Amino acid sequence: MTVLPVPDTALIVVAAGSGTRLGAGAPKALVGIDERSILRHALDGVFAAAPMQVIVVAPAGFEGEAESELLAAAGDRVDLGRVVTGGETRQLSVAAGLGALWGDVTRVLVHDAARALTPPSQIDGVARAVGADTGAIPVLAVVDTLKRVDETSIVEAVDRAELAAAQTPQGFPRLPLEAAYATALASGTEYTDDAALFAAAGHRVRHIRGSERAFKITTPADLERARHLLSGATAAAPVPIIPVVGIGTDVHAFGGDGDLRLAGLEWPGEPALSGHSDGDAVAHAIVDALLGAAGLGDIGQLFGTSHPEYAGAHADVFLARTLDLVTDAGWRIGNVAVQFQGNRPRFSARRIEAEQALSDALGGARVTVSATTTDGLGFSGRGEGISVTAIALLVPAS
Ligand code: CTP
Ligand code: MG
Repeated sequence: MTVLPVPDTALIVVAAGSGTRLGAGAPKALVGIDERSILRHALDGVFAAAPMQVIVVAPAGFEGEAESELLAAAGDRVDLGRVVTGGETRQLSVAAGLGALWGDVTRVLVHDAARALTPPSQIDGVARAVGADTGAIPVLAVVDTLKRVDETSIVEAVDRAELAAAQTPQGFPRLPLEAAYATALASGTEYTDDAALFAAAGHRVRHIRGSERAFKITTPADLERARHLLSGATAAAPVPIIPVVGIGTDVHAFGGDGDLRLAGLEWPGEPALSGHSDGDAVAHAIVDALLGAAGLGDIGQLFGTSHPEYAGAHADVFLARTLDLVTDAGWRIGNVAVQFQGNRPRFSARRIEAEQALSDALGGARVTVSATTTDGLGFSGRGEGISVTAIALLVPAS
């Protein structure tokens, strides 16, 4: 018979929650992921880590089931495990686990059974990082952009570099942890996790890198995620997103009334272009490119002379209406690129302004505009008018 050395580390697996949000009709830890329960998977990870005392905190009335899972997972380390009954809150369940620690234990790890797929290396890493007076927890960087909000509005942006998402196991030196628990229980204060309770007693908690697989199974979608990971399925092949492109051209002669309107801007002192609307050939070419890409016809059909309400309208009106039509048809604008050929206006100084105006009219889409001359050739080279070409890329909205 192998005599195992008495470990100086214990791990408390809290598994006594009811799993309200999972809604599986049984205590969460006993719900199956595949042919094995959440608790069994958690214990498989625990027993694959370095030898430790393992205390399973079971839901009241389910101690027998928890015992069976412990026996099945422990293998030849069965002497290291035992089951205790949990409490009303997670904090009380941890306290119940603390009551079962062996005398030689100097370091305690507290682990959620619900983090069933936590890699054993994370458990060992936390155990190693616990100091004589300091705790250690695994964290993951926050990837989403975060905002502080009130009921209806954004209050302020929150710098995510200062934030991390806490996981388990969370590890602590035994005596300070027991003292911190005694204080918390005496005061009746509920902490969000063990690290918060330990820190509230004035101790430092280090962080180490957590793992995506250590996510907590909370909702049915989380359970599906765990099933998917265990099925060994490689990430489903992404559904190909097939974009569509459209092209639009427009030509206008100089000779309109008033000042030039082009690319969503007014150009005081520049000769105006003639046309049914304001003659903004850049905007018109964009409209045709977008409508063409979406298969919605063309500018003449939607905004032509049979629509007197658009006579004299400016770029923002056409573009906003076109954006609505394209959006309603299920598309999102990838980008729009435009080039015009003409001797005037001299464009480069107002390029950014023009791109911004067009982008604003298209709900913030990326719009780029360039300009060129034709070396004196053709109607644009002779200064009779300008010619514009636009291409637009649309992608399916979902
Ligand atoms: N836990 C516990 N005792 C409690 C409450 C929770 O041991 N009284 C354990 C859970 O079993 C779980 C971990 O603490 O492993 C994290 O809790 P959570 O994910 O919130 O689980 P539940 O409380 O079971 O779920 P819910 O909040 O949806 O009811
Ligand atoms: Mg809970």
